[in-house]
Amino acid sequence: MPEREEPYTIAWDAENECILYIDQTLLPGRYEQMRCATVDDLARAIGRLEIRGAPALGIAGAMGVALAAVRSTETDLKRFLDEVGRAGDLLRSTRPTAVNLAWGIDRVQRKMTLAASVAEAKTIAVAEANAVAEEDELTCRRLGGFGEELFPERCTVLTHCNAGALACRCRGTALGVIRSAIDAGKSVRVIACETRPLNQGSRLTCWELSRDGVDVTLIPDSSAAYLMRKGMIDLVVVGADRITKDAVFNKIGTYMHAVAAHHHKIPFYVAAPVSTFDLARTEEEITVEERDRSELAYCGDVQLVPDDVKVLNYAFDATPLDLVDAIVTEIGVLRPPYAKSFRLVGKGREA
Ligand code: MRU
Repeated sequence: MPEREEPYTIAWDAENECILYIDQTLLPGRYEQMRCATVDDLARAIGRLEIRGAPALGIAGAMGVALAAVRSTETDLKRFLDEVGRAGDLLRSTRPTAVNLAWGIDRVQRKMTLAASVAEAKTIAVAEANAVAEEDELTCRRLGGFGEELFPERCTVLTHCNAGALACRCRGTALGVIRSAIDAGKSVRVIACETRPLNQGSRLTCWELSRDGVDVTLIPDSSAAYLMRKGMIDLVVVGADRITKDAVFNKIGTYMHAVAAHHHKIPFYVAAPVSTFDLARTEEEITVEERDRSELAYCGDVQLVPDDVKVLNYAFDATPLDLVDAIVTEIGVLRPPYAKSFRLVGKGREA
């Protein structure tokens, strides 16, 4: 597939010392780059899902720490690091399930503690945040190369939510694998689930694949199992927000696709970087983000549910690992038994 000359989903503007990002709430109607110059604005942009998707959140967290650092007027190193720490805590609280956000924040903050002066800490913060962003592109390319080998020469693949260029610096994880399969000359058709209630599938996945000339068809989330039953899906590939010892957290609806795929003996694959693994924890220990009722209760200005009805709006679900046939990472394809293959991830994180 031809590479497009266009801005990254999220990038550091060195000249103006601020963050540039594509506002994903405007798509597919408008493709617009925004500027974010304060940590409060960044926290708001993340909360509104203007910036979203686990790896992009990792970059946002890292750049948010850099932003707090360069904006600070504090001259005492200890007080400066405390101030940046509070900014990190604010950013971390915006989205509790996607582990990359906390990972990006922690990585830059940890590196800053090596500094001997405020000035040095600021330089380190910006350099480390840019390193997180650059590595993300490399990671998606490597992961794509490993993952495409799981694809037959001709296939129809179902995906959920958006694990594409818009969820990363560029290219994507699940969609990165699809792009790599196409680059390898395979004939790939994509079925994109709309991904209620915020429609990352229809608004974002369909947008980015169709403009790249990929054969993509939109379906309502509720028709996925029926398509599997009719033999219309060969495999499923999704991204992840966190992978614990025992489960893969991803956008709400992923679990039902995994159950349906298992029932129909269709391979169910997850594509995620090592930074998404949180192997010290189990499913039970993770907070699943619950979002505002308005996302379900309204479609634009149209009210969809009476005011007195309760609404439960989980943003993510957890798929037990026994429903996952393989996890594609930048260090290779991990297969069951995961207790054994996850040992490689431990090494990958240390490296
Ligand atoms: O709520 P979102 O849009 O941030 O949820 C995103 C997802 O669930 C993605 O599948 C996941 O972050 C992987 S992105 C490569």
